[in-house]
Amino acid sequence: MNDMRPIERATALDDTKISAKGVNVHYGAAHALKDVSVDIGDRLVTAFIGPSGCGKSTFLRCLNRMNDTIPSARVTGRIEIDGQDIYDRRVDPVQLRAKVGMVFQKPNPFPKSIYDNVAYGPKIHGLARSRADLDVIVEKALRRAALWTEAKDRLQSPGTGLSGGQQQRLCIARAVATEPEVLLMDEPCSALDPIATAQVEELIDELRQSYSVVIVTHSMQQAARVSQRTAFFHLGNLVEYGETGQIFTNPRDPRTESYISGRIG
Ligand SMILES: Nc1ncnc2c1ncn2[C@@H]1O[C@H](COP(=O)(O)OP(=O)(O)OP(=O)(O)O)[C@@H](O)[C@H]1O
Ligand SMILES: [Mg+2]
Repeated sequence: MNDMRPIERATALDDTKISAKGVNVHYGAAHALKDVSVDIGDRLVTAFIGPSGCGKSTFLRCLNRMNDTIPSARVTGRIEIDGQDIYDRRVDPVQLRAKVGMVFQKPNPFPKSIYDNVAYGPKIHGLARSRADLDVIVEKALRRAALWTEAKDRLQSPGTGLSGGQQQRLCIARAVATEPEVLLMDEPCSALDPIATAQVEELIDELRQSYSVVIVTHSMQQAARVSQRTAFFHLGNLVEYGETGQIFTNPRDPRTESYISGRIG
C-alpha cells in the first residue's frame, strides 16, 4: 500500500479555454439565454444539444461576439478566453473572430474563387508576406479540410461552383486558414450527405489535436461520435454538462433523459 498517494481530486478539470459566467441574452424583451455558466476545455470537442429554440446558436454566437451583429440582441455576463474578457471594450471583434472561427449550418462561400475564399482571412490579418507564403497557407488549409485533392486543379474556379459538401469543407478551410484557437460549428453537417458528414467528423477529430472545438448538433449519434463533453440546453437554460459518455448513458436531469430518449424535442 502506497501511503504517498496524492490526494484525489474531486473532478479532473479540463484545461479551460473558454469560461462563461452568468451569461444572459435578450432579443428585445425575449429572454433567450438564462444565466449560463460553463467552462469549455482546450483540445477537445464540446457538443451543444437540445430542442430547437433552446438557445444553442445564441450561446455559440456569444463566444465570438457574433451577436454584436444582431441589433436587438443584448448580452450580459462574462466570457473569458484564456482568461481575457472578450467583451472588454479594447477587444477588436474582427481580431477575436480570427482567433475564434465559425462555420455555419449553410455553407456560405464568398462569391470568389476557391483560392481567394481561403486566402481572404490570412490576407486581411497580414499572415502572409508573399504570394508564395499565401500559396502554402491555402494548400495547408485545404488539406486540413480534406478538400485539397478535389480542389487543387480548380483553385481559380468559383467556390460557389462546388457541391454542398465541398462548399462546407471550403468554409472549414476558410475558418482554419487564420489558425484560430477555437472553432465554433453550428450544425455543420446538416446539409451534407453521409459521406461528406463522415469526412467532416473525421476532420473535427483531427482539429481537436490543436483546437478547442464547439459543435451544435441535432444528431445525438453525431454528438456521441465526435465529442468528449456535452452540454444539454432546454428553454434557454444549460441543464446539464458533463462527459459525453455520462450524459448519454447516465443523465442526471430528467429533462436530459427525456430529450436523449426522444420524449422531448
Ligand atoms: N435574431 C433573433 N432575433 C430575435 N429572436 C431570436 C433571434 N435569434 C434567435 N432568437 C430566439 O432566441 C431563442 C433561441 O434561438 P436559437 O437560435 O439560439 O436556438 P437554437 O437552440 O439554436 O435552435 P435550432 O436548433 O432551431 O437552431 C428562440 O426563441 C429564437 O426564436
Ligand atoms: Mg441553432
